[in-house]
Parts: sequence; C-alpha cells; structure tokens
Amino acid sequence: MNPMELRGRWVLVTGASSGLGREMARILAVKHGANLLIVARREDRLSELKAELEQGGGVKVETCVADLSKLEDVDRVIARATEGRALYGAILNAGVTHFGPFEKLSWDAFRSMLDTNVVATVRLTTALIPHLEAEGGGLMIVSSMAGLHPVPYQSHYSATKAFLVHFGVTLWHELQGRTVSVTSYAPSGVVSEMTAGESFTPLRRWLMPVAAAAEEGVEAFRTRKYVHISGFSNRVGSVLARLLPQRLATSLVAAQYRSALKKQSTL
Ligand SMILES: NC(=O)c1ccc[n+]([C@@H]2O[C@H](COP(=O)([O-])OP(=O)(O)OC[C@H]3O[C@@H](n4cnc5c(N)ncnc54)[C@H](OP(=O)(O)O)[C@@H]3O)[C@@H](O)[C@H]2O)c1
Repeated sequence: MNPMELRGRWVLVTGASSGLGREMARILAVKHGANLLIVARREDRLSELKAELEQGGGVKVETCVADLSKLEDVDRVIARATEGRALYGAILNAGVTHFGPFEKLSWDAFRSMLDTNVVATVRLTTALIPHLEAEGGGLMIVSSMAGLHPVPYQSHYSATKAFLVHFGVTLWHELQGRTVSVTSYAPSGVVSEMTAGESFTPLRRWLMPVAAAAEEGVEAFRTRKYVHISGFSNRVGSVLARLLPQRLATSLVAAQYRSALKKQSTL
C-alpha cells in the first residue's frame, strides 16, 4: 500500500493530553497538515493543544474528553470519530502503567489498566476499521517494547502490551490485501509523565526524548509499518534479546528494575 496522505484528512489520537500522544498530534498537524480529533480525560490540556495547533489556521482540531476505562466513553469517542466525518487515521495511544511489585497494584487499578490499555483499544479498533478502510486509511496501536519482552515489576502493564502486539500483528495479517493498514508501535522507555515518578529516576538514562519517539511513531504510522521499535539500538537489542534464553534475558531486565526500586525503597 502507498504511504498515507494525511494533509486535510481526519485523524483520531487518544492520550493526546501529554507525552507521546501530544507530540504525535503536534507532528500530525504541523508537519503533515492533518485535522485531529484529540482524546483524553484532562480537558484543559486538550483545549491548550487545540489552541496551539489551530493558531496557524491550517488545520481543524476537535477535542473529546473521555475516560477510556469506561465503555460508554469509548463508544462516545467512536461516535464522535465516525459520525459526520470521513475518518482516515487513528492512533490508539492512551495507556497507563504500574511500576512496582505485582502485589502492590490494587484490583481496581488493574481493572482500570486492563480496560484502558486493552478493552478500549480492541473496541475502538473493531469499530473504526470499516470506516478507515472506506477511506484507504490506517490505524496504529501504541504498544511497548514491554509487550515484546517481558518486564518484571511492570508485570500487568507488560502483559497488556503483549496483548496489543499480538492483536495488532494478527490484524495486519488478516487485513492483508485490503485498503486499510494496522501498525504496531513498540517504543522503548520514553521521557513522559508515565516515567516521571521517582521510581524511574535510576532508569532515566535509558529513556528516549519524547519528540524523537513521536517522530518515529508518526513515520511508522504514515508508512504503514508492520511493527516498529523506536531507536536503532533498541531494535538491535531486541534482536539480540531474542537470541538469549528468555529466562536469562528477563533476569537481566529484572535486575535493572529491582535495583531501581531498591534505590527508591519500594521493594
Ligand atoms: N513512556 C514510556 O516509557 C513508554 C514506553 C513504551 C510505550 N509507552 C506507551 O505510550 C503511550 C503513551 O504514554 P506516555 O509515555 O506518553 O505517557 P503519558 O504522558 O502518561 O500519557 C498517557 C496518555 O494517556 C491518557 N490516558 C491515560 N488513561 C486514560 C484514560 N483512562 N482515558 C483516556 N485517556 C487516558 C493520558 O491522558 P489523561 O490523563 O488526560 O486522561 C495521557 O494523555 C502509552 O500507551 C504507553 O503505554 C510509553
């Protein structure tokens, strides 16, 4: 399929109030001239971004305040995205993590993570694909390297992201030969609110600037990549990690995270 032609087309971006989602929204509007429907819970952040991006007068930006851990809000986003507009693209980026021993995540917080990271993504993808296909467009699911390689101390998160990788990749195959693409994006660690907590401080040297991760994400989406890992060294690292027995590779990751958590005394 040809790369996506985003200028003047409508693209949905979830989790656009901060981090990767906000930066990808900026690139889509400023560099590619896409019109945006931006989604998150924090209305003030969405309004600020809308004002910033519409300032130049070249694009239209609509905001939709929604809590994607709630099915009724997910369905409201689907209606906003598809009714009265030709939706061409969707970047399903909203997500939450828990960094720490698995027992420390409450059941309610786990359910909310599962609903946000997994259930909302599946529901949005399923509902949006026919609309995107009618326009010859594409969808990108933001997973994580933690979905490709297990990350102890982010156990629930890593598992939700593994679900997303498998879901995205299998859809890519099922949709082959049709007029819509599904890309899976697996960023490594990124500087954002998600990694701003003190527990992440010892791991900060591994994090990628958010602008660079967003640039790679938008390019993977635009060029309809299959799976894209951010950063050359991470792509090499991912290949090398697959050559090791999983228990050894995961032990190395566990040691890094255990040491980071010990420094913050949360173990
Ligand atoms: N940072 C990393 O190291 C890293 C690495 C790999 C993958 N990722 C993935 O990249 C994506 C973006 O993360 P980020 O690093 O940019 O983190 P972030 O700055 O915390 O952004 C997360 C975004 O998701 C939105 N969100 C969270 N829960 C939501 C809910 N229930 N309903 C609606 N929106 C919700 C947040 O908006 P509101 O709070 O305003 O709702 C925010 O806009 C996530 O899927 C994350 O898993 C991040």
